[in-house]
Amino acid sequence: MRALRLDFDAQRLQVASHPDPSPPQSGEVRIRILECGVCGTDRGVASFEFGSPPAGERSLVLGHEAVGIVESAGSHVFTLSPGDLVVPMVRRDCTPGCAMCRRGRRDNCLTGDYVERGIFGLHGYMCEYAVDRADDLVPVPANLAGFAVLVEPASVIEKAWEMALRLHQGEPERVLILGAGPIGILAAWCALRDGFAVTVLSQESPESPRARLLASQGVQYTRTLDGAGADIVLECCGSAELAIASMRALRRLGVLVLLGARPAEVRLPSLDMIVGNHVIAGSVNASREHFEKAVARLGKYDAAWLRPLLHRLPLARAAETLFQPPPDAVKIVHRVSD
Ligand code: BGC
Repeated sequence: MRALRLDFDAQRLQVASHPDPSPPQSGEVRIRILECGVCGTDRGVASFEFGSPPAGERSLVLGHEAVGIVESAGSHVFTLSPGDLVVPMVRRDCTPGCAMCRRGRRDNCLTGDYVERGIFGLHGYMCEYAVDRADDLVPVPANLAGFAVLVEPASVIEKAWEMALRLHQGEPERVLILGAGPIGILAAWCALRDGFAVTVLSQESPESPRARLLASQGVQYTRTLDGAGADIVLECCGSAELAIASMRALRRLGVLVLLGARPAEVRLPSLDMIVGNHVIAGSVNASREHFEKAVARLGKYDAAWLRPLLHRLPLARAAETLFQPPPDAVKIVHRVSD
């Protein structure tokens, strides 16, 4: 089959031939991948900043934001049938399984020995076929097919959002989102839908398509922290420096959740944190429940909101566009099959 492969020896990324997965065993299903999205994590892996091939192999199929269709099932699969639309979860349990993995919360794995498809130790989904345990697949209604590729990034937001609301000790009203990439935009809608006043801070001009899209839905758009005041800040921009700087906008009891900040040495405003009862948290990955919430939430959005986010390209262009995405494309999605 064709796949977007990262070769760790030759340090090369290319769409190339890759062995088909083995037939599904008991409890497993074979899925035909329809589409797979690209995110900053894929760029990090393809830059060899993090990520690893499966044990004993020297290449990794990238891709973890996928949607596929069940083709066939092994024995003892009772929840899925051929033709069902599914989104795979990314992470798989550590072995033999820590208390959190055993409890179905591998997103909160205690050992760090988990594996992640397309990232750490398991091939991903930027390819034509995959085999997975039925338990690792989340069913998606057929009417969401056109946007199901957004379920995985939306699941990550569901987890972070739930965490922010749980950690805030008062009655939060105002949310500041750092970054207007796909995660920032989806996070803004999530908070907006839940009744919050939402501001997105990003570098693009207020006339840019994404700033206009946000503004048209009632989200405030700003390029500076001046005058911003927020109960919850969600960092969706990759900058720990900006995240910490944004703490001056945090109101009392404020919560800052880091979602994508790259490693950085930062100075904490410790006195303000103490006096303000502030909380800083980090959030990664998502549980099945968050995937299911993401499916439900995306199903409520207007297709006219979601459509402008997606920029579809054929799989053949995946290596070429990973580092040079078309300007103004919010989320690159590669079509793998029809
Ligand atoms: C994925 C998560 C994953 C994380 C770290 C993110 O891009 O959405 O599922 O846990 O990268 O590897």
